[in-house]
Amino acid sequence: MVEIGADGRTWLLSGPTSSYGLRLGDEDELLHLHWGPRIALADAEALAAGPGPEYWAFEATLDGHEEYPVEGGPRFVRPALSVRTPDRRGTEWRFEAYESEGDELRLRFSDSGLGITLHYRMREGTDVVERWVTLSNEGPALEVLRADSATWTLPLRDGWRLSQLHGRWAAESRLVRSELTYGEKIIGSRRGHTGHQHLPWVALDADGTATEELGEVYGCALAWSGTWRIAVAQLPDARVQITGGAGYDDSGLLRLEPGETFVTPVFAGLWSDGGFGGASRAWHAYQRAYVIPDAEQDRPVLYNSWEATEFDISEEQQRALARRAAEAGVELFVVDDGWFGARTSDRAGLGDWTVNRDRFPGGLKPLSDYVHGLGMQFGIWVEPEMVNPDSELYRAHPDWVQFQPGRKRTELRNQLVLNLAREDVQEYLWEQLDALLSSAPIDYVKWDFNRCFTDAGWPGEAYPQRLWVDHVHALYKLLDRLRAAHPTVAFESCSGGGGRIDLGIMARTDQVWTSDNTDPLDRLAIQYGFSQVHPARAMAAWVTDSPNTQLNGRVSSLRFRFVSAMAGVLGVGGDLTRWTEGELAEARTWVELYKKIRPVVQGGELHRLRAPEGGLSAVQYVRDGEVVVLAWLQAQHYGEPVPPVRLRGLDPSASYECLETGEVHRGAVLLHHGLRTGLRGDLDAAVIRLRRM
Ligand code: DGJ
Repeated sequence: MVEIGADGRTWLLSGPTSSYGLRLGDEDELLHLHWGPRIALADAEALAAGPGPEYWAFEATLDGHEEYPVEGGPRFVRPALSVRTPDRRGTEWRFEAYESEGDELRLRFSDSGLGITLHYRMREGTDVVERWVTLSNEGPALEVLRADSATWTLPLRDGWRLSQLHGRWAAESRLVRSELTYGEKIIGSRRGHTGHQHLPWVALDADGTATEELGEVYGCALAWSGTWRIAVAQLPDARVQITGGAGYDDSGLLRLEPGETFVTPVFAGLWSDGGFGGASRAWHAYQRAYVIPDAEQDRPVLYNSWEATEFDISEEQQRALARRAAEAGVELFVVDDGWFGARTSDRAGLGDWTVNRDRFPGGLKPLSDYVHGLGMQFGIWVEPEMVNPDSELYRAHPDWVQFQPGRKRTELRNQLVLNLAREDVQEYLWEQLDALLSSAPIDYVKWDFNRCFTDAGWPGEAYPQRLWVDHVHALYKLLDRLRAAHPTVAFESCSGGGGRIDLGIMARTDQVWTSDNTDPLDRLAIQYGFSQVHPARAMAAWVTDSPNTQLNGRVSSLRFRFVSAMAGVLGVGGDLTRWTEGELAEARTWVELYKKIRPVVQGGELHRLRAPEGGLSAVQYVRDGEVVVLAWLQAQHYGEPVPPVRLRGLDPSASYECLETGEVHRGAVLLHHGLRTGLRGDLDAAVIRLRRM
């Protein structure tokens, strides 16, 4: 809901529990008023009428108060907008008009032919504010050095604690919290993709007072799958602002020619007074309602052959794996890397999206038909944005890659990045992928991206080159076009595991590959971090072999591996041809159990009961009186009894029946005293289902 003050210069957006207010000052400066608990328009107007910021000779009065600080004038904060013409740098805008349409508010400013529109939208039924900016150039050509999506301003408090999700390959999305100090904390990616190093999300709680279930938490998440930056600044007067958008540096995002428009990605913000857990549930509900396509449909249990076979694949062997997967109750069988071109290792073939006839003599259709005949859907792996120099595509078009003239072309994993800003490259990929999806009944595409940008140049194009931004736009356009042409095909975003997880890609894919780390113990921490912002409905997790083949050789039971992977979208990724009949039968019972709890896990509300760093960790999902608890014990020491886990989100006056044992538990007791899990020893795990009576 958008409300407008009587003077037409105060605006208030409100959701179920929160409000966001701003006003226009006498000099057309756009000032922040409020972000926090829901208030009335009269409250916002009272705030607008209150005393303005105090003046100090060595500080800028506007700093820390503006909604979108532009470069120039009396400002010393990081500019959200920085543009230049050959003879001038900076912006001095005039307000033109506002428009309010549905749940969106648009404020239009202009400076010498450059139109700057700030967009605000509070999605109905959520407390998430989406913000973005449109630049339309009706004046002379401009260099846009920086155009952030938003600057968020927090209320003045004594101190703030910052939560972030950091990582690297095979160790993504690990939560770390630290006290914010004066100056700036910057996270981002210079790599051309979202990156394994940080998820584009931060959360802040005042004075470090929030807990999992209590306290005010502010969060911001960026919907962008390329290079990005989020700067969290504590200003000299202790005020905190968070500025974020596409691009890492300030030195050149793109050129805006006369008549051109640039729309920034969305930077979404959320206030919650339900602690970190409440904030996560609000993010999850928002993504299920407005970001993830068809989120009301549960994702099937998949099998992926990568860890079992790597590049050594053949049709016969895939058929054998498919038979075993079907026996285990799998619903979607995915052939990973190695089915196309000369792709018998990572040295060749990327770019040539035609079936390797030595491996699949009749093309993909016979295997796809076979898999369908076994009652499963059929999926395929691709990595369209890349090319191996040893490929037909590169031999024909060596200029289709990103490169700097006269410089080395850096190979990572023996591959180069295609320049997706080029229309001929976009058209080639569309034709190849459209033909692939039309060539056989394909239900699922795992879309991978296995190296960062290094030599991102486009010879002949004027500086600053749009290549960084246009790559992402071209990727989005390609995915949108493929989805429209093949509406029954689901897509997975993968980038060597979790290198491309953000709200931008999640709006175009059905699930994401969380990490190449499939060790079930490490996964608990990765999943714990992931769940801070994204829902289980999008989080793919596989049960693989023990000892773990990819990373650490850790030995763990099928029980532990399954319960770990059941916390998200369950998959199986082990070499099923080597599993014993007993293991396969056990796998089948776990898959059957997962199908029963799936609607609650994928569509329910998540409560993180205990964090994974202790010996005992647990999560709980609740949906319509159905409760699922997943608990894991890393190691029991000294024979100490394992503590019961206190449940959350239940009705204290109701009773709950345990579907495993038939025992009846009182809600108040489960909430206050907890539930015994029966876990003991090392790497033990349990699934407990309760139903409200
Ligand atoms: C990286 C992915 O994360 C893996 O699952 C697998 O698909 C390989 N790429 C294939 O090259």
